[in-house]
Amino acid sequence: MNTDYMKRVIELANRGSGFVNPDPLSGAILVKDGQILGEGYYEAYGTDTAELKVLRKVQGDIAGSELYLNIEPFQSEQRIWECLNLIKELGIVKVLIGMRDPNPEKKIVFQSELAKLQIDCEIGILSEECEEQNEIYSYYCKHKEPFVIVKWAMTLDGKLATRTGDSKWISSEDSLRFVHILRQRVAAILVGENTVRQDNPLLTTRLEGMKISNPLRVIVSKYGNLSDDAQILKVDASVQTLIVASEFLPKDREAALLEHGVQIAKLKEREGRIDFRDIMKLLGSMGIDSLYIEGGSSILGSVFESGCVHKVYTAIAPKIIGGRTATTPVGGTGIERMRDAIVLKRVSHEIIGSDVIIKGYMD
Ligand SMILES: NC(=O)c1ccc[n+]([C@@H]2O[C@H](COP(=O)([O-])OP(=O)(O)OC[C@H]3O[C@@H](n4cnc5c(N)ncnc54)[C@H](OP(=O)(O)O)[C@@H]3O)[C@@H](O)[C@H]2O)c1
Repeated sequence: MNTDYMKRVIELANRGSGFVNPDPLSGAILVKDGQILGEGYYEAYGTDTAELKVLRKVQGDIAGSELYLNIEPFQSEQRIWECLNLIKELGIVKVLIGMRDPNPEKKIVFQSELAKLQIDCEIGILSEECEEQNEIYSYYCKHKEPFVIVKWAMTLDGKLATRTGDSKWISSEDSLRFVHILRQRVAAILVGENTVRQDNPLLTTRLEGMKISNPLRVIVSKYGNLSDDAQILKVDASVQTLIVASEFLPKDREAALLEHGVQIAKLKEREGRIDFRDIMKLLGSMGIDSLYIEGGSSILGSVFESGCVHKVYTAIAPKIIGGRTATTPVGGTGIERMRDAIVLKRVSHEIIGSDVIIKGYMD
């Protein structure tokens, strides 16, 4: 079945997660008479793409085979021409593709070039899955700013933490793994300074048995009021931290933070706040294609108010903690009328361990 082969391509492409940003995840397989003759995936940014790897090394009786790709070839023109030439030379009769390359700067229309070579091309197999797999790439190549995912874990009674600020752990062990898969996928992760003070998180990716890539840790801290013992201040070659501070960051705090080896970006204060739209511009200019925001409440309120969110995950745990003063997930001023509520689109849910994970998009 076409869809079974495409599922395999998606699976292969996912192996590049965390290593190919801001390029898309890409996978390829070559099939003939129900046999897979070759398969590959894009492993690291700038290296050969999945289809080139497969086409260059495949051997034997290839004529008449079909090539499956989750995304149309997206790299340099030179590599795309090499791919087209190999398809022709090897006698491949059909190319089946999950999604088009949405890059507006792209000049070669792959399907038209295949048509000139009289090679069949079908686009749109498992398109929904393929589009979601590369939604980060689709957004970034058009807007040059990060695709923003927010996620919080809350109790059944809608709390982010107990009245004392304790939130370890609301969700189950299994949904914690889900968090680390998300961290692996994105280029940057962001939290507010109270979360650093309260939880002292590492914000690294921890997935057993997998090659790990850590996102850039971004901390919003207007005046740098972070403890010298904060774990996010420990940086090395494998994990970096960026403090997003106000233009009025005191000089002594700046010097103390820089001693830890972190980066600091000072942004304009607008009505006492840092505007998330300025943070997006900054991260976009650094080549960050995706940002995963893990809270807390005040930061989530800010980012929703700025209109910078694209995708939401909420993990609801079957726990009840009570407390009128216990933090709820999205702070800020909030709205007055239900009719003004943000209503997520394309909503779905899954159950992981004992938690329900709800996923939705802002549009
Ligand atoms: N369950 C979960 O998924 C989860 C995840 C993360 C954290 N938490 C919990 O949430 C709690 C922390 O939440 P929180 O709301 O207290 O703190 P927070 O959101 O981590 O950080 C709040 C700080 O960030 C500042 N801030 C927010 N938006 C800003 C902006 N646009 N520009 C500049 N500064 C900005 C706030 O300033 P103002 O004071 O001016 O507002 C405040 O100083 C902790 O108890 C933690 O355990 C739970």
